[in-house]
Amino acid sequence: MKDIGIAPSILAADFGYLMRDIKAIESNADYLHIDVMDGHYVNNISFGIPVIQSIRKYTDMKFFTHLMITNPEKYIKDFADAGSDNITFHVECTDDPFGLIDSIKALGKSAGIAIHPDTPVEKVFPFIGKVDIILVMTVYPGFGGQGYLDMSDDRLRALRKAIDEQDSDTVIAVDGGVTEDNIRHICECGARLFVAGSSVFHAEDPSKAIDELKRCGTLS
Ligand code: DX5
Ligand code: ZN
Repeated sequence: MKDIGIAPSILAADFGYLMRDIKAIESNADYLHIDVMDGHYVNNISFGIPVIQSIRKYTDMKFFTHLMITNPEKYIKDFADAGSDNITFHVECTDDPFGLIDSIKALGKSAGIAIHPDTPVEKVFPFIGKVDIILVMTVYPGFGGQGYLDMSDDRLRALRKAIDEQDSDTVIAVDGGVTEDNIRHICECGARLFVAGSSVFHAEDPSKAIDELKRCGTLS
């Protein structure tokens, strides 16, 4: 699969004008990436369920909910009911990742597993073919606007190889520091779905920024 997708992260939107910012990208973004932070797993607090419920009323976009929270099992149903289409939790945050994947799927949602930059990438290999998305963090989770970590290249290549060997359609997504300048390289390393906060919402024309990312990142 050479096609790529872009998932703008609302963490970089203007929360005072959240729907205006979402409307600006809804026609050509592939997902809306929703970063939920609890101040425990990461050193920041973003927003939670009521915000997702509210924006759900005004857009049909696919919601890619990235839970940077401890005890994700406790909240899965709430995030599903709030309108998430995909629910992605961190492999570091649960003792029963397979059970959690089953619960997400039983709620009729697509499941994803995310991995912190300091966790060995092999930790997510057992989930190939079991989840729809493996989200490789390419910055330290918690904040937008950081630079892409170069050490991610080898991690992505190793994961790509493992997925291809199993002929699986699990999608490799990356999260953090994606720009027009590095997206092609990251795609060559194996990623196909790109979360992008600053490079979309801080652009003068966010919708055009998505087109540019797609143009720059697509492998011929
Ligand atoms: C970081 C978040 C990312 C972040 C990406 O914890 O998971 O989704 O918003 O932002 P940029 O694209 O600015 O690195
Ligand atoms: Zn994220």
